[in-house]
Amino acid sequence: MMRVADLEARPATLDDATIVSDIQTAIDPDDPSDPQITRYQWKTAPPWPRERFLLELAGRAVGFAYHAHAPWEEMSQRFGWVGAYLQPTEHTRERAMAAWDLVEERSRAEGTRTFTVWAFEKQTDLIAILVERGYAEERRGKGWELDLVTNRERLERMAEESLERMRGEGIAVLTLAADADPEAEQKLWQVWEESLQDVPTTMPIPTVPFDQWRKWLSKPGVARDAVWIAREGEAIVGVSALSYPPVRGNVWTDYTGTARSVRGRGVARALKLQTVMQAIGRGVPRVRTGNDAANAPILHLNEEMGYRQFGGGIQYLKPA
Ligand SMILES: CC(C)(COP(=O)(O)OP(=O)(O)OC[C@H]1O[C@@H](n2cnc3c(N)ncnc32)[C@H](O)[C@@H]1OP(=O)(O)O)[C@@H](O)C(=O)NCCC(=O)NCCS
Repeated sequence: MMRVADLEARPATLDDATIVSDIQTAIDPDDPSDPQITRYQWKTAPPWPRERFLLELAGRAVGFAYHAHAPWEEMSQRFGWVGAYLQPTEHTRERAMAAWDLVEERSRAEGTRTFTVWAFEKQTDLIAILVERGYAEERRGKGWELDLVTNRERLERMAEESLERMRGEGIAVLTLAADADPEAEQKLWQVWEESLQDVPTTMPIPTVPFDQWRKWLSKPGVARDAVWIAREGEAIVGVSALSYPPVRGNVWTDYTGTARSVRGRGVARALKLQTVMQAIGRGVPRVRTGNDAANAPILHLNEEMGYRQFGGGIQYLKPA
């Protein structure tokens, strides 16, 4: 137990994932956090140095804090994730500052050179604390929402045209469940890893070993019959998947990526359209997606599909 202003910080266990998910939901009710997904992500997180703390007031959880970093041999720039969050009803400047002191100190002791955190533009309390602590804006992300009711007919038309174009290109669009290739998972991981390296970012993205990546396929909300892939002959050349949170939350794109060799041929468009057509078939009224503000091709695609921006995120950095 450690003192954090008038709170106590205690190391969080897997069983605390639910309460942390509840706190996250109280902080952003517009985008609820799913407790099963949170628990699974904690359970299957890469084996990196990390600590999670529950912040308690007289034995009642009112916040959480954490820090984590990739092994320094894989992240020579030594970026370390940090975060400290309080229930809105319990948020005070003093508590927040003390919780940030805790995670920054623990992360600094690990050898972190630069602290990093993302905040939503609307999290004005958090942003005020970060700015006061010397964090500076590094880059922006955009959040988008697509209304599947009002856009339905247009999306159906676009999806048809897109499939027609894929037939002309000799590219098959199907779900992972419908793919018979015994090496499909390996191939999917390869296209995932290749494309992930092309996401605009300040922090390098560490490569993920196959066995670690494979855990994504069993994540609650992800299902093989909702993972859309593109095939060109023997190769898997693209993927797009929506995540359907099992308990609560919005349906979000979990990932979209295509092989460098096929870019600009409409593969991402075709895949993303199939994911939303499936969501329409399941009666989902709207879906969300997020991307870096410097990611020109996906910004263009989202706009074309009729997504509307609902807000964004800001990445902050601070020298440790
Ligand atoms: C983003 C990504 C998935 C797009 O894949 P793709 O197969 O090339 O996509 P498509 O061919 O369907 O569409 C790309 C569109 O962007 C357009 N585009 C490409 N570069 C552009 C640029 N610099 N500015 C504006 N538009 C651009 C293309 O012209 C095309 O639009 P069009 O069909 O209307 O002509 C791919 O670049 C990728 O895998 N990037 C890395 C992973 C990533 O960033 N994923 C998304 C966010 S997590």
